[in-house]
Amino acid sequence: MEIDWPSLRAAAADVAGRAYAPYSRLRVGAAGLTDDGRVVTGCNVENASFGLTLCAECGLVSALHAAPAARPADGATPPAAGPPALVAVAVVAGDGAPLLPCGRCRQLLLEAGGPALLVDAPGGPRALAELLPAAFGGADLSSRRESPPPPD
Ligand code: THU
Repeated sequence: MEIDWPSLRAAAADVAGRAYAPYSRLRVGAAGLTDDGRVVTGCNVENASFGLTLCAECGLVSALHAAPAARPADGATPPAAGPPALVAVAVVAGDGAPLLPCGRCRQLLLEAGGPALLVDAPGGPRALAELLPAAFGGADLSSRRESPPPPD
């Protein structure tokens, strides 16, 4: 799939302008391209109780799940259930320059796009697997969780 990085960065810069960041004064915008061709965005939202801050990528992932499924224009087979996957993400600060996602958001993006997700970076896009190596994922949960305790 062709990725139009300049327009993805522009969408991120646009939404950064709507961030609520009165405490850090670091406005952040995130824009993601989905595998069905849509662009979803999010911005950071801070709170006087600082620990409640939502990163821009959190908003983006929420928007990914909230967006209605794309319908084929020709009435062909509808898409499978579930949210589309992210294929590319651009995160920028209010100055318009790329900002690498924090560790928590790298983990969040992994579940929304997988290790091949391309993340914009100062030197050019990089695969998420490179930014979050040896990641914990759902497979670890299913293979390592303990069996339920026997009933009394
Ligand atoms: N922030 C993001 O929105 N995304 C990141 O990946 C890093 C940090 C925000 C959170 C907070 O509002 C501000 O940047 C300063 O940490």
